[in-house]
Amino acid sequence: MATRTTKAAILWNVNEPWSVEEVEIDDPVAGEVLVKLAASGMCHSDEHLVTGDIPAPLPIIGGHEGAGVVEAVGAGVTNCAAGDHVVLSFIPSCGKCRWCSTGHQNLCDLGAHLLDGVWISDGTHRIRARGQGLGTMVLLGTFSPYVVAHESSVVKIDPDIPLDKAALLGCGVVTGWGSSVYAGEVEPGDTVVVVGVGGIGANAIQGAKLAGAKRIVAVDPFEYKREQAQVFGATDVCASLEDAFPLVGQITWGVMADKVILTTSVAEGHLIAPAMQLVRKAGRLVVTSVAPWNQNEVSLNLFDLSMMQKEVRGTIFGSANPRADIPKLLGLYREGKLLLDELVTRTYGLEDINQGYQDMRDGKNIRGVIVYD
Ligand SMILES: NC(=O)c1ccc[n+]([C@@H]2O[C@H](COP(=O)([O-])OP(=O)(O)OC[C@H]3O[C@@H](n4cnc5c(N)ncnc54)[C@H](O)[C@@H]3O)[C@@H](O)[C@H]2O)c1
Ligand SMILES: [Zn+2]
Ligand SMILES: [Zn+2]
Repeated sequence: MATRTTKAAILWNVNEPWSVEEVEIDDPVAGEVLVKLAASGMCHSDEHLVTGDIPAPLPIIGGHEGAGVVEAVGAGVTNCAAGDHVVLSFIPSCGKCRWCSTGHQNLCDLGAHLLDGVWISDGTHRIRARGQGLGTMVLLGTFSPYVVAHESSVVKIDPDIPLDKAALLGCGVVTGWGSSVYAGEVEPGDTVVVVGVGGIGANAIQGAKLAGAKRIVAVDPFEYKREQAQVFGATDVCASLEDAFPLVGQITWGVMADKVILTTSVAEGHLIAPAMQLVRKAGRLVVTSVAPWNQNEVSLNLFDLSMMQKEVRGTIFGSANPRADIPKLLGLYREGKLLLDELVTRTYGLEDINQGYQDMRDGKNIRGVIVYD
């Protein structure tokens, strides 16, 4: 078996910085694909690994928003070949399970293995550091210029799309867009509130705009985020959920918002009641943000929920189908109807990954992106 060495960003313990160090990568086995990445987005979900909100076996290579060129495929791989351009989807889709076969690829049963820490083809490791097998974030690990992914995570795309932008379709763009369009079912004329303007929220704004929303209110404490929100289609901005209440009341003549999309850094239980206050009768709150895994306490006025016939809906990957929606959204980009270039605020070398995450915490980036050679 051939191995190659490269550098990857590894999390050895929670609440430690990413450690960029040498790793050994094996060739793909049957059902697997070796991809040389052009770039990886820095999503907040990898920060949840660092804080322990997402409980993954450590050590782990982070990153789940990548695109690149297929370098080699293992036996039996039929959906791509060497030289193909691909996006790595953070949700695998087997195409055969109940969910995949009924138009819910984002709920594919393979999702049960996202945090197994071993490769799903044979339950072993393909990457090692310090003589030890490493896990990968959601079966990918795009904080490494080479990824060995299962073919169920690999989506072939047209070669004219710049790969460093296509990378964002592995998570943030589809998740945000789908949070408005699929989970939110935003309709022409709706008033939509997007709470939190990062990589996910900016795309929830774009989705709401494309679905025909009349007013889009973006909420974020950082002024830079509120400025950027308007690039993606926000018509109104404010700094907090508290400020949003009178603003949305005024815009809607007291009716309140048809849809509220929660895309804050962390889903915190105390955010639900003030977010639900922004929702109109029979309207919907979509919760896209990831909470700490053991977050069971939620503020919610139950009287208001039933008497105002409101809904709360969770969503993973924006309730989208990776194999259909990744190419579809890239088509919208090609036609100039979906902004991708504007999502990338700053680019970094892999060795600057901790600076990239500090910039995210400081509200400086819509998306920071690691660019490989
Ligand atoms: N459900 C899914 O499938 C899925 C997929 C990807 C990411 N996520 C989650 O979505 C969330 C957002 O990810 P991101 O990469 O866009 O994060 P980010 O850090 O880039 O952006 C989050 C934004 O929320 C803002 N914010 C924080 N608290 C706020 C509050 N109380 N009110 C208003 N704004 C607030 C921050 O200022 C920041 O601009 C994370 O929790 C991430 O894990 C979920
Ligand atoms: Zn993500
Ligand atoms: Zn499936």
